Amino acid sequence: MNLLLAEVAQATQRLADAGVPSPRTDAEELAAFVHGVKRGELHSVKDSDFDARYWEVIARREAREPLQHITGRAYFRYLELQVGPGVFVPRPETESVVGWAIDAVRAMDVVEPCIVDLCTGSGAIALALAQEVPRSRVHAVELSEDALKWTRKNVEGSRVDLRQGNALTAFPDLDGLVDLVITNPPYIPLTEWEYVAPEARDYDPDLALFSGEDGLDLIRGLERTAHRLLRPGGVVVVEHADTQGGQVPWIFAEDRGWTDAADHPDLNNRPRFATARKALP
Ligand SMILES: C[S@@+](CC[C@H](N)C(=O)[O-])C[C@H]1O[C@@H](n2cnc3c(N)ncnc32)[C@H](O)[C@@H]1O
Repeated sequence: MNLLLAEVAQATQRLADAGVPSPRTDAEELAAFVHGVKRGELHSVKDSDFDARYWEVIARREAREPLQHITGRAYFRYLELQVGPGVFVPRPETESVVGWAIDAVRAMDVVEPCIVDLCTGSGAIALALAQEVPRSRVHAVELSEDALKWTRKNVEGSRVDLRQGNALTAFPDLDGLVDLVITNPPYIPLTEWEYVAPEARDYDPDLALFSGEDGLDLIRGLERTAHRLLRPGGVVVVEHADTQGGQVPWIFAEDRGWTDAADHPDLNNRPRFATARKALP
């Protein structure tokens, strides 16, 4: 075993002792980051090239700074995004929400699908849809100026139309024209604050996490926004907490102009997102 792999084994133990949920992966990712190689190439780093800065980044991760803040990058579907303080780190569970949305747009058989991502954060959802749905026109909105510093870097060179503003009042120019509205808004109930993992609670912005006592304040408002933006027959997709699967579909009620409201699990089989279709007149 080379020196680096021995240090990785020690670092894994330190991260596990600190309660880091994926200690081995993180120890390897950080070793690869510091040494400028891929994880699969760690065995090829010469002992003489071992970089002692490895232990500095391990100490930061031990203190529960998010891996993605240390490396400055986050992976989301086929994308590598720039992230850091001020922006929400995209999560794997959102990848399955996007997967459902891609299938829904393909099933619509529209030539140039118009898609809106409300509360875009790093731009992860908008960029994935722009990349994976051919000829889509993707629009995204974000309120936080701190987050937008990262979003702007990520969307540069893409065809995502990024705007700064409040999702509740965004895109009046697209009213009634949108095929799919997708959102991963803040949804953690304030009452859950103490149970949130330190990486999220101490590093993701509060604006990205919380929305009222039951977490549903913004989703209730976004229901109206989605209804305003969608064309009849258009679809809305809303991520939510795994405790909210019994509540969110009811926000998209028939008497408010929706049909086919349903809830869906993520890859861990936990309730994760609600979908509904704007009723035809
Ligand atoms: C949970 S994060 C999700 C970010 C991104 N969509 C993702 O999935 O990685 C929620 C985002 O909503 C933004 N936000 C909160 N309230 C907003 C509002 N009223 N209008 C627009 N964006 C908002 C936050 O700043 C944050 O970036």
